[in-house]
Amino acid sequence: MSTDAPRLAGVIGWPISHSKSPILHNFWLKKYKITGHYIPIGLAAEELEKGIEALADLGFKGANVTVPYKEKILSMASNITDRAALIGAANTIMFKPDGSFRADNTDGYGFLKNIKQFAPDWQGSNGPVVVIGAGGASRAVVSALLDDGASEVRISNRTRHRAEILKDQFGAKVNVVDWSKLNQALDGAATIVNTTSLGMTGQPELKIRIDAAPKTALVTDIVYNPIKTELLRAAEDYGMRVVDGVGMLLHQAVPGFENWFDHRPEVESDVRNAVLSA
Ligand code: ATR
Repeated sequence: MSTDAPRLAGVIGWPISHSKSPILHNFWLKKYKITGHYIPIGLAAEELEKGIEALADLGFKGANVTVPYKEKILSMASNITDRAALIGAANTIMFKPDGSFRADNTDGYGFLKNIKQFAPDWQGSNGPVVVIGAGGASRAVVSALLDDGASEVRISNRTRHRAEILKDQFGAKVNVVDWSKLNQALDGAATIVNTTSLGMTGQPELKIRIDAAPKTALVTDIVYNPIKTELLRAAEDYGMRVVDGVGMLLHQAVPGFENWFDHRPEVESDVRNAVLSA
């Protein structure tokens, strides 16, 4: 492939039509006048391996990887970054000239950057963090919080066993709180994070007594549809600082874009508006 060919990247998943990634990457490509394309690539499970080989053959620089392949992709990678290995999942791959690829996970990075953009003085080390949920997103969030200095992470999950698996992996700074005691876990919290799908359009609401936490707590939700979940609305009404989940989606995209297109994009209101209005 000639060196002046448009640079190519995309997002691999199944189904793929709901992914917002093409909107934001193509927005940045246009904004920075980069000759390139970012394409949604729906691959059924039996097509995954061949599909990825085909992308390498076509000269793709890399791709984002989304549901349901974020764990499976690790077994196909020739190298795995430390953070992807720790989280046990990848959301970004970068092809090498020989067609093999490196797998990274930028979800935790995006999570921290998003909060710090809106609350620059916030740190994971500000005090106890309550993480609601123990799925794939929770692993990335807990890992990032510990990296940012959190010394106490309280995880509460409907299925307690999954929270215990996270504790086993991440160690003594993580405590499991029974789902029935979620409100008690809010006592003295500095940060509260929803990593479950509760509160998403079409899903049940997260039932929580936000006033059981100090008013000084920062509350964030990885759900971004709706932008202001009931959790964020209740926290804001109570006088807390809130950070919505759109920015995590935007920030997690930055390292991949920079690698594939050789330009580090800024997360500004223009790209946020483009994603929200699509
Ligand atoms: P993701 O990768 O987005 O985190 P996941 O691994 O399927 O997706 O995890 C979804 C999270 O939302 C889990 O914490 C899940 O709780 P369980 O481990 O008990 O399944 C949580 N969740 C989803 N629906 C829920 C519901 N109705 N009530 C409580 N928790 C729910």
